[in-house]
Amino acid sequence: MGSVIVVGTGIAGLVAALEASRSHDVTLVTKWELAESNTKYAQGGIAAALFDDDSVESHIDDTLRAGAGLNSHRAVEVLCTEGPDRVRDLIRLGVAFDREHGELARGREAAHSRSRILHAGGDATGAAIEAALVLAVRESAARVIEYAFVTDLVVSDGRVVGVDVIAPAVGARRLEADSVILASGGAGQLYRHTTNPIVTTGDGAAAALRAGAVLSDVEFYQFHPTSLAVPGNFLISEAVRGEGAMILDADGRRFMTDWHPDGELAPRDVVARGIARQMAAQGGTPVLLDATALGAEFLAERFPGITRVCHEYGLEWGSEPIPVTPAAHYWMGGVRTDEWGRTSLPGLFAVGEVACTGVHGANRLASNSLLESLVFAWRSVGMLDQPWPDAAVLDDSMPPEPLDTPVDPTELFTRLELQQLMWDEAGLFRSGEQLQHAAEQLAHWIPDGSGTVTAQENANLLELSRVIVQAALAREESRGAHYRSDFPATRPQLARHLGWAQLQPARKVTVSC
Ligand code: SIN
Repeated sequence: MGSVIVVGTGIAGLVAALEASRSHDVTLVTKWELAESNTKYAQGGIAAALFDDDSVESHIDDTLRAGAGLNSHRAVEVLCTEGPDRVRDLIRLGVAFDREHGELARGREAAHSRSRILHAGGDATGAAIEAALVLAVRESAARVIEYAFVTDLVVSDGRVVGVDVIAPAVGARRLEADSVILASGGAGQLYRHTTNPIVTTGDGAAAALRAGAVLSDVEFYQFHPTSLAVPGNFLISEAVRGEGAMILDADGRRFMTDWHPDGELAPRDVVARGIARQMAAQGGTPVLLDATALGAEFLAERFPGITRVCHEYGLEWGSEPIPVTPAAHYWMGGVRTDEWGRTSLPGLFAVGEVACTGVHGANRLASNSLLESLVFAWRSVGMLDQPWPDAAVLDDSMPPEPLDTPVDPTELFTRLELQQLMWDEAGLFRSGEQLQHAAEQLAHWIPDGSGTVTAQENANLLELSRVIVQAALAREESRGAHYRSDFPATRPQLARHLGWAQLQPARKVTVSC
């Protein structure tokens, strides 16, 4: 029986572990407890063409439009074609998606031409999926190691054969297997304001980079337009706007239609930038999300989690607009894979937010990320026993270019300083000057060498920040979530992926669509 280590316990890791446990010896490691991950906080839902008035083609079109010319078409076809069957798998597993009159209920989110978003527990979709999968994994043959922090991937003869972990239960230890499936999630903690939980420090992507895997599209970081403007930036789902809520300036005027004919339901990056501009124009104060027309009763039933958090902050959103602000939400970039989750390093698969399948291109369509995790985690398991393809999984035929900022670290930094720098200089708006400043600052910072998990997370965030800033500098155009104030137009000749690999010194490669 072959063996596999799965790293991470969001939807991607749990699905991979569960599927693989039917035929493989599985060790599932997570740096926190089994049920903690970004998945748990997903509100809006999961998009799939499941309804009679919808079609796979329409879902493909919407995904490609949002992705602004950088999607991998093959991956998008796989996502939208196989998505409905994988969602039915979840239903069979016991995920109780909300229903109306016995039929699956569906929500609407920005840039979808149809209502096709399934949700559960109102706004607790991720938690419902996570709970069902955790139960199934607990009942499976998979071995679970919680509170195990993966410090590095183990590479032997050019193949990934395990992970090094530190864990209170087992100390520092090497775990070996025939393959590793990285499902370690995103890196929301790169930014001062984020909807992501504290565990999202990009550890998997950084470890893959150190091991020599190609990362791509790293300059594309999605900012959610509406997080509650309180510490912790609790997500206010786009589904709220899908139900008809409006965004108002400090004087109570609706302004998003100034920026886009679709107003509040314009693509996510357009709404986020519209809000950021408005906030700047009104001295930095948050804008307002007005859901009062929906009524307190409807809001409490459809969005119980948001209602509870509003109450915790003394806000009655059924009768008053609430303050909202953009926050970092989802990283489109990550470890480059083919449409089977295979990376450029034999033996290493990547699925979920840590991966860059090319599905999202320059901007992810709302509620496509749970679906991506589900579809590609399932597919990667199907490839576990197959020989790694001889031809490179990824085409990196363009000549490599060295990174141009010398790294000469001398100064210790704090996580907060790094998050603030990324927010200010590499956030919703970036210019060459800002990015150059960020690159220079990042080059001076040195991680604290204490070896604690926090110190290692900070080192990972630093490593990823450097690559993101370099990529954002290299992309001299605006496209999707990447907005260069000094290059505000999209340049058709730049419709290609930038890939990054750290082959001492780090180099830039171009990955074909
Ligand atoms: C939301 O509920 O607005 C988030 C959905 C997503 O990010 O896909």
